[in-house]
Amino acid sequence: MCGIIGFTGLKQAAPILLEGLARMEYRGYDSAGVAVVSAGSPAQIRLEKVSGKVAGLYEKTENGAAFPGTCGIGHTRWATHGAPTDFNAHPHLSQSGLFAVAHNGIIENFVPLKKELLAKGYTFKSQTDTEVVAQLLEDNYNGDFQQTVEKVLSLIDGSYAFAILCREDPQTIFAVKKNSPLILGQGDGFNLFASDVTALVEHTRDVVYMEDGQYAKVTPDSIELFAEDGSPLPLAVTRVTLSVSAAEKGGYEHFMMKEIMEQPEAVERALTPRLKNNEIVLDGFSLTKEDLAHFHKIIITACGSAYYAGLAGKYAIEKLCGLPVDVQLASELRYSDIPIDDHCLLIAVSQSGETADTLAAVKECKAKGAKVLAIVNVVESAIAKQADHVLYTWAGPEVAVATTKGYTTQLAVLYLFAVYAAHVLGRLDDAAYAGLIGELRQLPEAVRSALKLDCEMEDLAPHFKDAEHVFFLGRNTDSALAMEGALKLKEISYIHAEAYAAGELKHGTIALIDKGTPVAAVCTNEALLEKSLSNVIEVWARGADVTAFVPAGLPGSEQVRDYAARIVEVPHLRGIFASIAAVVPLQLLAYHVAKLRGCSIDKPKNLAKSVTVE
Ligand code: G6P
Repeated sequence: MCGIIGFTGLKQAAPILLEGLARMEYRGYDSAGVAVVSAGSPAQIRLEKVSGKVAGLYEKTENGAAFPGTCGIGHTRWATHGAPTDFNAHPHLSQSGLFAVAHNGIIENFVPLKKELLAKGYTFKSQTDTEVVAQLLEDNYNGDFQQTVEKVLSLIDGSYAFAILCREDPQTIFAVKKNSPLILGQGDGFNLFASDVTALVEHTRDVVYMEDGQYAKVTPDSIELFAEDGSPLPLAVTRVTLSVSAAEKGGYEHFMMKEIMEQPEAVERALTPRLKNNEIVLDGFSLTKEDLAHFHKIIITACGSAYYAGLAGKYAIEKLCGLPVDVQLASELRYSDIPIDDHCLLIAVSQSGETADTLAAVKECKAKGAKVLAIVNVVESAIAKQADHVLYTWAGPEVAVATTKGYTTQLAVLYLFAVYAAHVLGRLDDAAYAGLIGELRQLPEAVRSALKLDCEMEDLAPHFKDAEHVFFLGRNTDSALAMEGALKLKEISYIHAEAYAAGELKHGTIALIDKGTPVAAVCTNEALLEKSLSNVIEVWARGADVTAFVPAGLPGSEQVRDYAARIVEVPHLRGIFASIAAVVPLQLLAYHVAKLRGCSIDKPKNLAKSVTVE
């Protein structure tokens, strides 16, 4: 997500900071900034921040030349608390400019801390949680930079990586790590650190990967590492051998694979902070029974994979809430005459939050009186701004055009909403509510264990590599999943793939099944396993080459083995939530097939990540 860099040495800091920020651009960000301690007496911390690209920062600082000084910090921000504006960009200065702080992560107790600081007369320029840390440093300053950092760390809760400058100690930077990456780089006549190894490898290959709960004092000729309690720690220096471009992708060959592998953490970020003391707590809003009972129907609207996430989410909402859910392609909904009024809740699902059709559908439905809940990834995006309520998916920046973690986090949030709404509507007793929350908590782990299928999918890929057509079949939740599986294969491998609700086979599609036709049968819905089996038998009888995706250890699933050429066992999850783990092997299969075919995986031909035109 966000990127941090710090440099102190003999050379000018600003050009090195800017170059490091540019190297971390691939991570995605919406604003950037640098702070440099300028030489002179008294020393001063100078700051420049821009919303938008690092290029803007180059311009404003005259490629760094306007910011003389040999010690500084920089940041690229992906907005969480507060819109992506110049003010909210990092670093943040304390009231009198004594400290500057750049931060990745979240300060959970920033609200009460901010109240205390306001009462003491501190004023705030931004809406960020980070500015609270800068003010706390100033408020607790006792003349000793290190002691002050330690004191402030004892006051804050949350997850973070910090880079901290102090005007009174102009050559020193403190680097702090808790649940957010930070890597120290050792140089000759300088030292630096960053949240991403890509920003370091131009300067040094001798690095120290900081552990959670550690902080480091970084000066031009030394790096001292400490535990949370201030006790010194040895430096475990390792040598980085990755090329810059491999490092950008976390060592993976493609962003898509990196993002597939990031899914357990992404799903965890989407769910866990909202599961508090066995209650679901939505972000800054709640809906009452009256609010929800007012809605006669829910319409989910989206495009592409987000639409398929909506289709899968529909089953969970209908089953748990008993409300009818109509899932509409945004490009259709915006021009349709579907009756919509204030008894309709529109759920708009979008990774980018900028997709033109989804945005237009939101505006249309709002104008007709619908209330809008946006499920989006990008903070303060156009769809988020239009909505009455927003649930962010917290997937982090997604670079590959074909979405993966964007999709799974959308599913996670739709499931969360389904359980929340069912509980508010009084449709779940305490035991059922607790049981479903327990199941939601298991989802990140289920996704993690599905990733173990990577090698198996690589082995499976040659069976699909030369196919002209692939058919994906599934029923109910599996039919939504089959659609996402087919879309993934189509968009990155350019193989024609179609998904069908398996029960529809005999109404036409079966005419296309011949000897050797590849069929991916998605059979993860335990309630419909027998029905799915009957469809597998239908295509098997016509000579199809069936690969079946079945839940590991599900009683009855062994019968599928008699008719499928191969079986992929996916983690076994309860019916309505099963798709979130079962989609992982479908993503991996598409990836490996595309790779075997030599396709441009991260940027498929004719496709764009964000479709902001109609
Ligand atoms: C494009 C992307 C898809 C995405 C769709 C909707 O087609 O290639 O991966 O699912 O847009 O995008 P959104 O940002 O609204 O989720």
